[in-house]
Amino acid sequence: MRIVCIGGGPAGLYFGLLMKKRRPEHAITVIERNKPYDTFGWGVVFSDAMMSAMRAADPESAAEIANAFNHWDDIELVFKGSRQRTTGHGFIGIGRKQLLNILQRRCEALGVELAFERDVNSDLEFPDADLIIASDGFNSKIRQRYADQFRPEILVRPNRYIWLGTAKAFDAFTFDFRKTEHGWFQAHIYKFDPGTSTFIVETTEDAFEAHGLGQLDQDDSIAFCEKLFAETLDGAKLMSNARHLRGSAWLNFNRLICGQWSCFNGRSHVVLMGDAAHTAHFAIGSGTKLAFDDAIVLARQFDARCHSAERIPETLAAYEEVRRVDVARIQNAARNAMEWFEVVGRRYADSLEPPQFFYSMLTRSQRISHENLRARDKAWLEGYERWFARKTGVPVNDNERAPPPMLTPYRVRGLTLANRVIVSPMAMYSATDGLINDFHLAHLGARAMGGAGLVFAEMTCVSPDARITPGCLGLWNDEQAAQWKRLVDLIHGVGDAKAGIQLGHAGRKGSTKVAWEGIDEPLEFDGWELISPSARSYLPDGPVPRAMTRADMVRVRDDFVAATRRAAAAGCDWLELHCAHGYLLSSFLSALSNVRDDEYGGERLNRARYPLEVFRAVRAAWPVDRPMSVRLSCHDWTPGGNTPDDAAFFAELFKEAGADLVDCSSGQVSKAEQPVYGRMFQTPFSDQIRNEAHVDTIAVGAISEADHVNSIVAAGRADLCAIARPHLADAAWTLHEAAKIGVADIAWPKQYRSAKAQYEANLARAAAAQAGAT
Ligand SMILES: Cc1cc2nc3c(=O)[nH]c(=O)nc-3n(C[C@H](O)[C@H](O)[C@H](O)COP(=O)(O)OP(=O)(O)OC[C@H]3O[C@@H](n4cnc5c(N)ncnc54)[C@H](O)[C@@H]3O)c2cc1C
Ligand SMILES: Cc1cc2nc3c(=O)[nH]c(=O)nc-3n(C[C@H](O)[C@H](O)[C@H](O)COP(=O)(O)O)c2cc1C
Repeated sequence: MRIVCIGGGPAGLYFGLLMKKRRPEHAITVIERNKPYDTFGWGVVFSDAMMSAMRAADPESAAEIANAFNHWDDIELVFKGSRQRTTGHGFIGIGRKQLLNILQRRCEALGVELAFERDVNSDLEFPDADLIIASDGFNSKIRQRYADQFRPEILVRPNRYIWLGTAKAFDAFTFDFRKTEHGWFQAHIYKFDPGTSTFIVETTEDAFEAHGLGQLDQDDSIAFCEKLFAETLDGAKLMSNARHLRGSAWLNFNRLICGQWSCFNGRSHVVLMGDAAHTAHFAIGSGTKLAFDDAIVLARQFDARCHSAERIPETLAAYEEVRRVDVARIQNAARNAMEWFEVVGRRYADSLEPPQFFYSMLTRSQRISHENLRARDKAWLEGYERWFARKTGVPVNDNERAPPPMLTPYRVRGLTLANRVIVSPMAMYSATDGLINDFHLAHLGARAMGGAGLVFAEMTCVSPDARITPGCLGLWNDEQAAQWKRLVDLIHGVGDAKAGIQLGHAGRKGSTKVAWEGIDEPLEFDGWELISPSARSYLPDGPVPRAMTRADMVRVRDDFVAATRRAAAAGCDWLELHCAHGYLLSSFLSALSNVRDDEYGGERLNRARYPLEVFRAVRAAWPVDRPMSVRLSCHDWTPGGNTPDDAAFFAELFKEAGADLVDCSSGQVSKAEQPVYGRMFQTPFSDQIRNEAHVDTIAVGAISEADHVNSIVAAGRADLCAIARPHLADAAWTLHEAAKIGVADIAWPKQYRSAKAQYEANLARAAAAQAGAT
């Protein structure tokens, strides 16, 4: 085959040498516009895992690269006058120039032709090539030429950064945060040879503008950064090696995704590789890794097809299929990390204390969890657990192991929860006339013995026509109140859990069948009239509700108040107002369901008016020493619907009205929604609301392990975690999860104690067997 790589960066060089090594008969040329051994850029970092993959692909270049690497284990944070350090993170750094020089030498040794100082304008300059690799970086001319086929999508990120170097060797991956009169700046610093470090300075567009950095030339920008980070630089100078860039050299990161990675130009097959195909933010330093992985996978796909020129199309299709998955995974992690640095100034830097700020930074990509941190640096993590436990009032000596964040107490008003786990409200559709029966007592009683700090019953409806289904619980009469008292007494009687009630009104989503007969499907018989802010149905061809009059609003508000009084008398410890999931109060908040033209519709403040009126009335009727939360749909996942920014706005209003916490759920407001599910997928909403609206939060949604809860609570992304479906699978979820992370210091119901030691021993045995097997 005749192969031409346009662009002699990591992708082009590495692919060239891998293919030549496998099949010396391939004629391979790498064309680079720069001079040989000439490049810009400072150091790049790799993980140990990347080195293993490279060792397998080409041991010769891997050995040279490994020799030239600087290895270090520590991460250091310089923040608000403090320095904190953790170890066990395993980085390797190498100068980009040195890396390329090694690859160039290896190409030459294998017989890859290297052509320098040739700026390629078009792939058509190589008509006899079977395969053209567009490895010409992010600004790829080749990709632009076939943009209609490659369909590149470029997202310009809001932060500004400048990529500098310094002749000072830092012995840790160092992050330095500095506040100016216009906002926060952060430096990402890592060494890549014994005497030089990369020094990337990043800030928001607002701070960049306010300091006039766009008007400064490179030297003045460098002088600005040297002054700002003088303490950390300790006399060392900053240097730029991007003199070829015009202007200030402050850049915006561009996130690139392509709809297709290869095409045929009439003579040759053209395929994208490395930064020409995709980019990942430097916050997790993976751009070079992605370029190398692309080269390794494409070479392997050729191996699998005997390097046949006829089979190039299917080889390229297989390459794209394999790489897309991995690239998406890395881009996701990079996005989380990048977003953390974009919001750090307004969300965390001013409010979190240095230890928690450090923890939040370390777990920013959500790929590193609490237990990962323990595996990397046990002493540091245990120190952090002690700090966290002491903040919650748990006395711990320096040599003692503190309870993990999940098992620390939480105080609000006159109530203390034993830990951070909540049994999330879950409709069971098993009531008759809204009454609690044996099923509810057995179901919730079992969960009250399962270790959670707070047990919510399902949404409890404030009137017969407030129900979702005929099987929903209600609290509009004394008989129901008596059953509620029975349930609360049971929960209090069997353990330490507190009893929560969630009051709601189904609105336009009412009068439907029970879940197992058809979710959201209207009742065929004995239904009831639906009310909603506006006469708009939930299902496209579903029943149209009646738009509420002011008299309806007064009646429903008073129903909420009457139910609240009954709940207080029954001894409920916690009341949550259900303003989520497209039910009545949620329908007011969302413009998708609220198109009123009076003071209860229109802009956000108006849409919140009625839910706030109900909230205030309920709060006034609810004992002052008992907490109240509000559940919000923080994202409608539908164009024109509420976004997390809207939810943060509503959260502030409820906080001002006296809400103690916001329970951050999402969706179910519109049938057209397109939610993006994933592990802990709603936790970012909780993070935003907690750290921007400054109100305590409950995170919920796909939180399924103690490790998740610990990571969320320890990082300050939420104060409590509500766990729903896992509690249907396991009533004693908290007790079992504690055992899984090796915590024995948690009380089981006294009647069950004899099972505890056996359960823990079985887990320990299984863990030991697994460790032995790996
Ligand atoms: C601030 C910053 C920090 C980074 N830190 C890291 C890190 O720590 N770790 C990491 O792995 N990655 C890092 N990266 C990313 C890394 O630099 C790239 O992802 C990686 O170099 C991609 O390799 P590539 O071969 O695809 O592209 P490039 O390295 O961009 O190579 C493309 C080559 O093509 C040449 N070229 C372009 N057009 C033509 C043409 N028309 N004719 C001839 N030649 C042409 C260019 O001169 C260049 O040499 C960082 C990036 C930035 C911006
Ligand atoms: C069977 C079932 C019933 C639910 N009923 C309610 C409810 O009554 N009120 C409510 O706010 N959320 C309800 N939810 C949503 C859960 O409280 C929770 O937000 C959601 O299931 C995501 O958490 P998970 O991933 O831990 O299951 C219900 C969920 C399930 C699975």
